Order: sequence, then structure tokens, then C-alpha cells
Amino acid sequence: MAAITGYAEAILEENDAERIKDHATKIVDAAGRASGVVRRLSKHSKENKDENMVEVSLNDVLIDSLEAMKLRKSSPNIEVIGNYEEIPPVKGNRNELRQVFFNLLKNSAEAMPEGGKLIISTRAGGERVEVRIADTGVGIPKDHTAQIFDPFFTTKEVGEGTGLGLYVASTIMKRHRGTIDVDSEEGKGTTLTLRFPTADQTSETEKDAGWQKKRREPPRPNRKP
Ligand SMILES: Nc1ncnc2c1ncn2[C@@H]1O[C@H](COP(=O)(O)OP(=O)(O)O)[C@@H](O)[C@H]1O
Ligand SMILES: [Mg+2]
Repeated sequence: MAAITGYAEAILEENDAERIKDHATKIVDAAGRASGVVRRLSKHSKENKDENMVEVSLNDVLIDSLEAMKLRKSSPNIEVIGNYEEIPPVKGNRNELRQVFFNLLKNSAEAMPEGGKLIISTRAGGERVEVRIADTGVGIPKDHTAQIFDPFFTTKEVGEGTGLGLYVASTIMKRHRGTIDVDSEEGKGTTLTLRFPTADQTSETEKDAGWQKKRREPPRPNRKP
């Protein structure tokens, strides 16, 4: 950058056409080097961000999260039913996904203090993978459904709930280009549905995004005559 400014200033003071040309060549070289540095830096930060995005089997992550809950010990009256279908991998961060499932499973368990059924199902549908976590718990009142994903929204006692579980889950789902939907009936139970693009699909989208980025680059400003 200093080199570019220096040569540009030199041009302003210079009358000799040959020297001006020489300075301009140096500016072009320096600008080329600078943009190389920027390109390498942004590539590096992108790699860092995607570092933990690997092909993940959601069935495995679900089983991990469920084990981490130690439900059999803490809530022996909850019957866990698992319907794990064969599903293609998704591209994701295993720790983050474990956090999503854990937060949802915990909410379901907390919604069934007297016990009930916790039904976990996975299935593949076209370019998506679907995970459902359903419970036969207290349910969510209609006027709460718009708020449950808000940070700090909780109906639990101080010290019991932070109101961050679903907020964190929805943030992680966005990062995975997935969606999270709720369907609930007071007194009957709640179903949370998570949908993820398959790993194949994610790679396709990334390719398209790269292509579009190139196309949308703004035209260079016209040089003043
Ligand atoms: N499975 C569920 N059954 C009933 N209510 C739920 C369920 N999941 C979430 N909720 C409601 O959404 C609120 C927010 O959930 P969450 O963000 O995990 O915070 P927290 O569990 O700390 O309260 C809960 O307080 C509860 O009212
Ligand atoms: Mg919670």
C-alpha cells in the first residue's frame, strides 16, 4: 500500500512520460501483490470457518446426544423410541450438531416431568434429511410459539432455564443451512422438525454460490479521461 501511494505521488510530480510509465508499472505490480495477499488471507479465514464442517451421520450424532442425557437415570419414566432410517450424510460440525440435539432432547425431557414418550425419528427425503424429536409432554401454548426461539425466552423457574437452548439451536441450524420447525398442542405434546441439506446438496450450493459471486462482481469504474 505504501509503495502504491509513493509511486502515485511520484507520478503527480513527474513530467517525463517515460518515468511516469515506469512508476505506473510499479503501481500495477504492487497492486497485484496486494490483491494476492488479500486473496490468500480470505481463503485462509474461509478454511478456518469450514474446518470442522465434515460429512456427518446424523443418526450417530443423535445416539451420542441421547447417551449424554443419561435419561435412564434422570428420568426413568420416559420411554425412548428411536426410528432411525438409513439417511445420507450431511455436512456439519459434529459438536454443534450434538448441541442442537441435546438442547431439544433436554426440552422434551423437561416437558415430561411425570414421564412419557420421547420419539426420535430420521428419514431421507430427496435432497434433505429430516430429524424429528417428539414428546408427549405439556406442549407449547399457541401464543408462545413465535417467541420460543428468542434469546432468553423461558417459561422455566430461575436457575432451571436460561432461555437459550432453542436460540442456540436455531443459530446452529442456520449455519448448517437447515431449518427448524415446531408443531405443538398444549397438553398433548410437541414435535420439533429439523431439516438439513444432504452433504451432496451442500457442495452443489457452494459451487453455485462461488459462480454467482464471480458473476455479480461490480464492473470496474470507468477511468476518467
Ligand atoms: N418440547 C417442549 N415442550 C414444551 N415446551 C417447550 C419445549 N421446547 C421448548 N419449549 C418452550 O420453549 C421455551 C424455550 O426453550 P429453550 O430455549 O430451550 O429455553 P429453556 O429450556 O432454558 O427455557 C421453554 O422455556 C419452553 O417454554
Ligand atoms: Mg431448553
